[in-house]
Amino acid sequence: MSAANDLVKSRRPGWSLEQPFYVDPFYFQLDLDRVFRTGWLFAGHACQIKESGDYFCYDIADDSLIIIRGYDQKVRALFNVCRHRGSIICKIPKGHVKRLVCPYHQWTYDTDGSLLRNTWMPEDFVNDNFSLKQAHVKSIAGLIFVSLADVAPAFAPEDDLKRLLGPHGLESAKIAHSETYDIAANWKLVLENQRECYHCPAKHKGYAKIQFDTDIDDIDEQNQIQTRWNESREKWASMGLDVSLADDRYAMRESWWRVNRTPFRAGFVSETVNGQLVAPLMGTFTDPDAGNARANTYPNFWLHGSSDHMHTMRVTPIDEKITRIQADWLVNETAKEGTDYSVEQLIAFSKRVNEEDHEIAEDQAKGVMSS
Ligand code: FES
Ligand SMILES: [Fe+2]
Repeated sequence: MSAANDLVKSRRPGWSLEQPFYVDPFYFQLDLDRVFRTGWLFAGHACQIKESGDYFCYDIADDSLIIIRGYDQKVRALFNVCRHRGSIICKIPKGHVKRLVCPYHQWTYDTDGSLLRNTWMPEDFVNDNFSLKQAHVKSIAGLIFVSLADVAPAFAPEDDLKRLLGPHGLESAKIAHSETYDIAANWKLVLENQRECYHCPAKHKGYAKIQFDTDIDDIDEQNQIQTRWNESREKWASMGLDVSLADDRYAMRESWWRVNRTPFRAGFVSETVNGQLVAPLMGTFTDPDAGNARANTYPNFWLHGSSDHMHTMRVTPIDEKITRIQADWLVNETAKEGTDYSVEQLIAFSKRVNEEDHEIAEDQAKGVMSS
């Protein structure tokens, strides 16, 4: 442990971490204990569980949580562990239940986790003492976050997320497409790559065509950016959007979160291949030119949202060398596939960016693992 502390202390700001942080199982366990079990984690979308009894499982390290909407409409994060002999309860990763029934001895729980029925327990057995354990949960503007900590820390981005995402109507959206894939790289390489755009001009040519993230030396370009900021702020104010979030702060606040809205290059209104809408407007938008809503919360989440669709990424460390990505694309819940949108058009832009980043992370991981 002291070796780990020494390595942390010797880190030079602005430089990569030392190799063990990316390749060593001991450090991976530290990541789980010190980061993933202490902070807030994005689990999924409220629109995945619109009805009472709808649930999905969120697995992180050795824990499995049942994210479920109760009959009281509250969203809970129940540990997927029977209070009798510890069996997993939900084996199907998502679905709808009236009650949660343990497959082993059939103990039956309500959707709020309370034990409703046991078999052959002694007379003095008190069901109330055997409710499913719960993790902390927050449902914010359609995003569900959980914390495995004993005492949940403050969640600083909450207000900004509500103000940024309110107009996007994520609670009344639907997931139009999802992809799950594994990257052969430590989760920190995936996150570090996501937080710099030094690589964008070379690796994300499609992205750089519509976004301003890349460092630009050209004076004309800088003037264009300033013009876009000025006209966008004015436009967004007239649309009732919160322009206090309209800034180009790329640095993480309190070193772990960022919530803002940025303009696209002139002529583009959505983060799509041709910069035009690919689906009906979401939420309360009546004008498509709402720029790009962005949010990142370490250690496992980011999103990019346009007025017609939202793209979210959930990062789950599997081991020190494998990271699982859950990529979701959301649209207005009333939009009909084939009529109002095609999945191919909806995902083309960000899928390409994701594939480019996938390759980058694996290339880097190979080098980082080298002796
Ligand atoms: S382990 Fe669940 S009912 Fe026995
Ligand atoms: Fe990238």
